[in-house]
Amino acid sequence: MSAAAESEGRAAPHGDVDFVSELDPDDGSLLAVSGLDAFYGPAHVLQDVTFTMGDEPVAIIGRNGMGKTTLCNAIMQIRPATTRGSIRFRGEECVGRPSYKIAASGIGYVPQGRRLFESLTVDEHLRMVASGDERRWTPDAVYELFPRLAERRRHGGMQLSGGEQQMLAIGRALLTNPRLLVMDEPSEGLAPAIIESLTETFRRLSGEGLAILVVEQNLAVATALAERQLVMVAGRIFTETTASEIANDPEAQRRYLGVERA
Ligand SMILES: Nc1ncnc2c1ncn2[C@@H]1O[C@H](COP(=O)(O)OP(=O)(O)OP(=O)(O)O)[C@@H](O)[C@H]1O
Ligand SMILES: [Mg+2]
Repeated sequence: MSAAAESEGRAAPHGDVDFVSELDPDDGSLLAVSGLDAFYGPAHVLQDVTFTMGDEPVAIIGRNGMGKTTLCNAIMQIRPATTRGSIRFRGEECVGRPSYKIAASGIGYVPQGRRLFESLTVDEHLRMVASGDERRWTPDAVYELFPRLAERRRHGGMQLSGGEQQMLAIGRALLTNPRLLVMDEPSEGLAPAIIESLTETFRRLSGEGLAILVVEQNLAVATALAERQLVMVAGRIFTETTASEIANDPEAQRRYLGVERA
């Protein structure tokens, strides 16, 4: 973040919080993943994953099965993989910490496939995680962000369209009032118009000061959201590129994402 942005402060959700002191005093990062390995039994799936991020949005791109979800789950310390190495968020170690404490410390998670509850309505999903205090994100603020959800507040999670389900999963994550939002393929399976509108929402949230780490195979979404692009290949951060660079490099797109350009 620039000095100017710091001195001006930012609008909600973080109000008068001092951004600088939230960062790791050791290296100034918000999230620092270092030497991270993950295993499913004997299968060594993440290998020495290392990167840091600050407030700027970051995208992780890569083909199927490269370890993107395993990395997101490792950040939240969600099993079944076992992890080794270090994941520091605002200077505090996440490895070995229970997931609910990681969420409470300020990481919101939108898992791949949304993971909603069949038996709960939209409103119940949101009330379940709402803290009740007067912070940026309340169920009403989520309904304001996604008016479609307000119209469907009495509907069950499974009666929603894919786009509405994704809005609900995002709303649920926002209700923990996160400092960092981790999203695993939020555009997966959605229609182009919905993807476009969600991308716009993510940009707005990012503009409000929410840090975003997004996993995407949809390059248009990844590059619209983040200039920094980390490429995962076979459980490693193979290389780092930028949105502008990869947007103009069909060969890299093919190699890293299997995208064929007409
Ligand atoms: N629960 C599990 N048990 C054993 N192996 C797993 C498990 N989940 C994933 N794997 C394996 O770990 C590797 C990485 O999977 P992961 O789901 O992290 O990839 P991904 O990049 O998220 O893929 P996708 O793009 O399909 O979502 C794959 O080889 C996968 O088969
Ligand atoms: Mg995945």
